[in-house]
Amino acid sequence: MEYRKLGNLEISTIGLGTLRTFDVTSDEDIAVRSHIVDNCLSNDINLIDCASAYGNAEKVVGITTQGRRDKFYMASKVRTEGKEAGEAQIAQSFELFQTDYIDLYQIHNMIDWKTHLPTLEAQKEEGKIGMIGVTAMVDEAYPEIVELMKTGRIDTVQIPYNVMDREVEKELLPTAEELGTGILVMEPLKKGRYVKDLKSQPDLTPLAEYGIETWAQALLSWVLSVPTVSTTIPATSRPERINENAKAGTLDALPQELRDYVREETERCL
Ligand SMILES: NC(=O)c1ccc[n+]([C@@H]2O[C@H](COP(=O)([O-])OP(=O)(O)OC[C@H]3O[C@@H](n4cnc5c(N)ncnc54)[C@H](OP(=O)(O)O)[C@@H]3O)[C@@H](O)[C@H]2O)c1
Repeated sequence: MEYRKLGNLEISTIGLGTLRTFDVTSDEDIAVRSHIVDNCLSNDINLIDCASAYGNAEKVVGITTQGRRDKFYMASKVRTEGKEAGEAQIAQSFELFQTDYIDLYQIHNMIDWKTHLPTLEAQKEEGKIGMIGVTAMVDEAYPEIVELMKTGRIDTVQIPYNVMDREVEKELLPTAEELGTGILVMEPLKKGRYVKDLKSQPDLTPLAEYGIETWAQALLSWVLSVPTVSTTIPATSRPERINENAKAGTLDALPQELRDYVREETERCL
């Protein structure tokens, strides 16, 4: 597994997303998530991203990392309006994760960020939070995020970046490179659509010499071939896919012509 800098941490280039996939309640479903966490460990994945807004996911992350909290860097997000509601949501993340320290705390989709940022800064000062980040899903949010990055008040930004969604290449990624801001890439597989909803089978032949065996690995490798990206966090409900996805974090960067090929093949097969 390749590790890259995220602030002062060395994080695995493949992390674990938990949106929808960890929002489960039955013992049987939680046991499967525990197996997912086992496979993260055996594949040297050391980052789990979650959020207050992901239903039962924070609780399930807390249960499945119990006794092995120190093996992972954990991230969550606040998504509400108002100072008191924000403080309550952040406090609940600590409780559900069953921890007294959260490595990265993010402001979800920049919602009420002017209120939550001072709260998180105070908690970082107290040593309860390691780093502060923001996340965004829409291109319109990027100019404000770029300005915020330049103030030095945030350590990381989480954005969508994949073969088709490339708006961040214009300004956000170059600014992150200049400032050393950590970049977490969400939706590397476009919620799985660019793997599961293809109408025809992409031709993997030109990618074989890079060790790529599946289309998911091609898409993940496309993202990680940009050195400004610190990590990407595909989510899955299937333990065996952790092994498949983690392999993308062990491969050499693709040259630009093969990145172009992966994009063109995705377009052709969609
Ligand atoms: N605003 C925000 O802050 C925000 C927004 C979106 C996402 N995120 C974060 O980013 C993470 C990733 O985004 P995402 O979960 O929306 O999308 P994603 O990682 O692009 O796609 C997840 C989907 O891909 C499928 N998948 C995973 N590995 C696969 C493989 N090897 N082959 C085929 N299918 C595969 C999974 O289905 P199976 O379960 O069937 O494997 C899952 O449904 C989230 O979990 C969350 O932590 C943050």
